[in-house]
Amino acid sequence: MTLANRSLVTIDDLSNGEIESVFSLADKMAGALDRQTDVCQGKIMVSLFFEPSTRTRLSFEAAMHRLGGSVISAVDIGATSLAKGESLADMAKIVGSYADIIVIRHPWEGSAKVVADYAGVPVINAGDGGHQHPTQTLCDLYTIQKERQTIRGLKIALLGDLKYGRTIHSLIFALAKFGANILFCPTPGLEVPQNIIKKLVTEYGGEVEIQPAVEGKKRAGVLPMDAVYITPSSPHQLALMPGINFDLELKTGVDALYVTRPQKERFTYDEGQGINSSLVVNKEFLKGKEFKKTLVMHPLPRVDELAYEVDADPRSMYFKQAARGIPIRMALLALLLGSREVAVREEPDFFRSKVNYPIYKGGYEVTCPNPVCVSVQGTETKYLKPEFKIVSLEPLTLRCVYCEHGFEPKYIASADWHEGRLDTKKYHRADSHWARTIKPENLIVFNSKSEAEAQGFKPSRYAGAGHPGGD
Ligand code: NCD
Repeated sequence: MTLANRSLVTIDDLSNGEIESVFSLADKMAGALDRQTDVCQGKIMVSLFFEPSTRTRLSFEAAMHRLGGSVISAVDIGATSLAKGESLADMAKIVGSYADIIVIRHPWEGSAKVVADYAGVPVINAGDGGHQHPTQTLCDLYTIQKERQTIRGLKIALLGDLKYGRTIHSLIFALAKFGANILFCPTPGLEVPQNIIKKLVTEYGGEVEIQPAVEGKKRAGVLPMDAVYITPSSPHQLALMPGINFDLELKTGVDALYVTRPQKERFTYDEGQGINSSLVVNKEFLKGKEFKKTLVMHPLPRVDELAYEVDADPRSMYFKQAARGIPIRMALLALLLGSREVAVREEPDFFRSKVNYPIYKGGYEVTCPNPVCVSVQGTETKYLKPEFKIVSLEPLTLRCVYCEHGFEPKYIASADWHEGRLDTKKYHRADSHWARTIKPENLIVFNSKSEAEAQGFKPSRYAGAGHPGGD
């Protein structure tokens, strides 16, 4: 099977079978890294890194060199025409006409999707803001698979910045795809965003159990767990009954502890002032019984959250994770460029249902509320149309197709209301029965009454603050 001309924007762009095929090609290439120079001869990779990077950029570039291809790059946004006000779409078309594959890192969430939509060549997302970083996830999964021979049924603890960590977001979905259990251990204030939890449960199955307050769990060796994801592949392993102590579940051990640094560059001003991430994974922390056989992982770079004394411990995996970036990225480049083909197990993914959500195409000025979404950036608004998936009716929830940020609009109306005549246009509260009544193709949403009224809509008796049915 060929993966030629495909892009990798989020981890869902590859099926489990395709991920396994990347791993098996990476295995073959890892055994002979310096004998692959005929694989991508004559091909050009462009690397566009508009945020700091050491591992990702250099491993992509080294991978392409090892495959015999060439690399062109731009690493400073100020040195490209983006700084003159050029749009991402125009840049993508131009760069796509110069190179055979694009690797991009950019601070805007959803930017890699826009580049993929316009480039005409395969695009690999090397990190789009706090959204996703799927190739780091391939390195992470590959490491777990190599060290534990399976991912299914394992218990993986995610520690640190679960809010802005893009490696965390891609990894969560990948672990769910492969049937692992997840222990969420956030730095207080940096919990996993609700839209990720919702997507996890509705699209991957399984359950999320919320742990009551984590206060008083700061003893060395105790994970500050606030929630657990239980995969449908091992529903009984972590089956939690109300009142059962989560710590007891840890007695059987944690298979991997994935540590992340606080992504300070993405903090709001208040987060910058208030967040205290003092937990350090060191020898003392790892003394706990639950960590006896734990793989200690980190996407790197580390700051203070992972002590250097752990490096000599055989449980430390982070340098191996980084080194495996070479064969993994070689395999991925060779496959997406169509220079290699592999057999792919074709069974559908068991732990993911491809839900075909109705699409809300915006209009009436509804924009994504995420300030770092690509769709709300000045230049990009000239050609990008806001577009959302309607992922739930109760509560009415839209998910941006670019950054996947979810939000609950407050008011709704129907484009079909009284044949659309202006004088009868009415708006209602989004939590009234109208959310279920209006056909998705006719749905109009507003974030405020004034937005609705500015568009000529009048309040219905279901628009008031009284109760969902009316006022
Ligand atoms: C990560 C990233 O850029 O998101 N680094 C990486 O690619 N290995 C993690 C981080 O910066 O903390």
